[in-house]
Amino acid sequence: MLGHSRGRIKGKRTPSALAGRSRDPIGHRGGLLTRTKTSPNSDDPHGPGYISGMSNAPTTSALRISRRAAELKPSVTVAFMNRAKNMKAQGMDVLSFAAGEPDFDTPKLIKDAAIEALNAGMVKYMPTLGDAETRKVIAEKLVRENGIPTTLDHIAISAGGKHSLYIACQSLFDFPAPGEPVQEAILPVPAWVSYAPIIELSGGKVVEIPTTAAGDFKITPEQLKKAITPHTRAFFINSPSNPCGTMYTPAELKAIAQVLAEAARTVAPQLVIVSDELYEKVIYGGFDHFSIGSIPEIAERTLTINGLSKAYAMTGWRIGYACGSGAFGKKLIDAMGVLQGQMTTNITSFTYPAIRAALLKGAPEVERMRQAFAERAEAIFARIGRVPGFKCPKPTGAFYLFPDISAHFGKTSAGGNGKAGRKINGAMDFCEALLEEQFVAFVPGEDFGGCGSNCVRISFACSIDQINKGVDRVEKFVAGLR
Ligand SMILES: Cc1ncc(COP(=O)(O)O)c(C=O)c1O
Repeated sequence: MLGHSRGRIKGKRTPSALAGRSRDPIGHRGGLLTRTKTSPNSDDPHGPGYISGMSNAPTTSALRISRRAAELKPSVTVAFMNRAKNMKAQGMDVLSFAAGEPDFDTPKLIKDAAIEALNAGMVKYMPTLGDAETRKVIAEKLVRENGIPTTLDHIAISAGGKHSLYIACQSLFDFPAPGEPVQEAILPVPAWVSYAPIIELSGGKVVEIPTTAAGDFKITPEQLKKAITPHTRAFFINSPSNPCGTMYTPAELKAIAQVLAEAARTVAPQLVIVSDELYEKVIYGGFDHFSIGSIPEIAERTLTINGLSKAYAMTGWRIGYACGSGAFGKKLIDAMGVLQGQMTTNITSFTYPAIRAALLKGAPEVERMRQAFAERAEAIFARIGRVPGFKCPKPTGAFYLFPDISAHFGKTSAGGNGKAGRKINGAMDFCEALLEEQFVAFVPGEDFGGCGSNCVRISFACSIDQINKGVDRVEKFVAGLR
């Protein structure tokens, strides 16, 4: 059974939403060119000399922004993370399990490499896709650790894995010309919230393959086979998975690769595989991470996406990369380079030595963090598994649990912290009530697609002490549901 796009960029614009957007960039109604009064007040939030008064200004209340931007849904993950942060800033004792980032600091040896480069004056523009030395270190890592047949000319360094995915999709999908079919992107769900918007902004249509908690949120080769059509342009796979916290075994990925190779030979000659391996190093299931791009039959049509955010605790640095292989891989990376050249050019120049330090010398630090995540995974799974009505597979990778909590739908919460009880009609209500009444922030699963609407995402990138306190509160919350 397949689900089709949930239309994340196809929401309705309301008049109030339009009105809210009709302000200029500094939040003032009115045109910039026709202001007549200058503020003499140095305390004016806009600064002294700010020109106000807009009697001759043409009205701006009907000014629109593009449908593409207006209809894009903001990330629910970021929304819950920010709410938890705001409540904390107001002095509330909030325990947040919403952030999709390691709680560790970036290892010192990586920071030092950037500081040294900055002090040495490495502050100029660089080649768009990265300097040759750093691209070479990345390519060698991918050959050595992942078995991907690649070279430095097949590497594109971008401002985070998200940016890599964005320029990859812009280089793969077309909006259909009149009479042409829409290009399809097969996406196993639940999936990270940004894939669908990125695909749809590029002109692709998401075709979801549903998974279940009982099946560790993994697709089967049979499901994939059924989903592929002559219009399939890309297949996305994310192992280990955000939000599911599970990963495919090498054998499972090899079976999936066989289906992809056969489809590319027959029904879907334009098929490209996008393998998001951002959580490659955060694994503790007892089996190895495997890169599908290492399989010779599909290597040239696979784009591997990775980055430093999760493995090296470097989310704020914004460093991601894409890796292709063979003639098509080079063509795709070159196209991404042209796009990036018109968008951001190179990433921050003095971070290149830090990338090399991370990949060449960071392994002990990565292992230290991996072990901490493995201990937390054990701790939280042992406790959450005992909370009535919570069902989820044992986590094997990334730092998330994604329990199905639908057993509680239809109940009403007890209320608390000055809030009345709330009817729990879905995961969003569950998370709202839990945050308001017990000050615990989880992320509701609706936006992850498929059975995600029955689930909540719990990030355990936090201390074991926080895990224990948080689960105590969840138990209290669940005990109060009627
Ligand atoms: C599955 C997945 N892919 C890609 C990214 C993008 O990460 P970044 O842009 O920080 O490299 C994330 C971030 O949360 C993610 O969870």
